Amino acid sequence: MAAKIAAIVLAGGRGTRLGGDLPKQYRELGGEAVILPSLRLFLGHPQISLVQAVIHPDDETRYSAVTRGLGLRSPAYGGATRQDSVLAGLKALAQDKPEFVLVHDSARPFVTSALIDRAIAAVQTNGAAIPALPVTDTVKQIDAQDRVARTIDRATLRLIQTPQAFAYAALRDAHLRAAKEGRHDFTDDAALAEWAGLSVTTFAGEAGNIKLTTAEDFVKAASAGATALDDIRTGMGFDVHAFEDGDHVTLGGVRIPHDRKLSGHSDADVVLHAMVDAILGVLGEGDIGSHFPPSDPKWRGASSDRFLQFAVERVKARGGVIANLDTTIVCEAPKIGPHRDAMRARIAEIAGITIDRVGVKATTNEGLGFLGRREGIVAYAIATIRLPGTTNA
Ligand code: CTP
Ligand code: MG
Repeated sequence: MAAKIAAIVLAGGRGTRLGGDLPKQYRELGGEAVILPSLRLFLGHPQISLVQAVIHPDDETRYSAVTRGLGLRSPAYGGATRQDSVLAGLKALAQDKPEFVLVHDSARPFVTSALIDRAIAAVQTNGAAIPALPVTDTVKQIDAQDRVARTIDRATLRLIQTPQAFAYAALRDAHLRAAKEGRHDFTDDAALAEWAGLSVTTFAGEAGNIKLTTAEDFVKAASAGATALDDIRTGMGFDVHAFEDGDHVTLGGVRIPHDRKLSGHSDADVVLHAMVDAILGVLGEGDIGSHFPPSDPKWRGASSDRFLQFAVERVKARGGVIANLDTTIVCEAPKIGPHRDAMRARIAEIAGITIDRVGVKATTNEGLGFLGRREGIVAYAIATIRLPGTTNA
């Protein structure tokens, strides 16, 4: 049976070096609170069965607001130092008796699942393992007057990150002993483990796994994020439905009164269907028919919102964001102009983007062909999507 592995995500600090009213783990970066990416990653990791957050009692409301719907267990309340907060997390896991525990700073939102994989592999063979990076700058020791006293051989030095992984019982015992002996100042668990006489091994850390400490770190992280989604792709979609007897059409998620309706298995929303195909085209993931076969009675009369929601979820699953969605509707009637902004608003809502990123245009077909004979409606769509590029792969 696979070992039971827990993760403690620390968010009990005040972020005094950053300053400001809002502790750094609740600041927004890349559109969401700093604490979220690591929580989500640990929750979704197949080998991790328990995620225990540790928060400051003053942050209860903030914490619940940003983590609503994630299905997390109740947070533990941290203490005056990081070490005290880890102990609170370890105690909150006592009933669960995990075999291993990974301790992670929520101030490191760029942790990856590959790094978690390495932590788990290393702790299972070594009992205590921490991510380490080589030091590339020359390191000097200075005296009280800031004068160089000596140069230290950097080859044996490492910069240490989190998540740090330990056998749960050994780390808990070491923490209990440190607290009992009046020690509360270990800045990471490896230092405490070292003090307790545990042997700690290292595995490869990641340069991108930085700890947000100062305002400069936030600025750097924000601009790195902006260039990281640099695989920019465009996809196109097309849909057509024929008119039949009826009293309204649904276009762009909006019900528009008309003396005909569009025939089709779902609500025949040609605009949303074309947009779904444009998005799936970007991802190279088939088309609307391959995900929602018209032959399946499940989709009879279905609202096309859910098809678009599905495509948007696929973008999120790939770590991408939708830059814009644009459509051109071709029909002699109904008139689209009066409904344009309602359609833009609804599409923006379903796609989770701002309305300025949604274009809706319409044209008649100048009386030509089947469109000119008012036999149906056509919609073309284009989606532009930013996916994670090679710079942070
Ligand atoms: N932490 C904690 N409990 C504390 C202190 C720190 O849970 N009493 C957590 C922080 O929330 C952070 C991690 O430990 O995720 C690393 O600490 P640090 O980067 O020092 O964060 P802060 O203590 O919040 O910042 P500062 O030291 O600038 O006040
Ligand atoms: Mg601190």
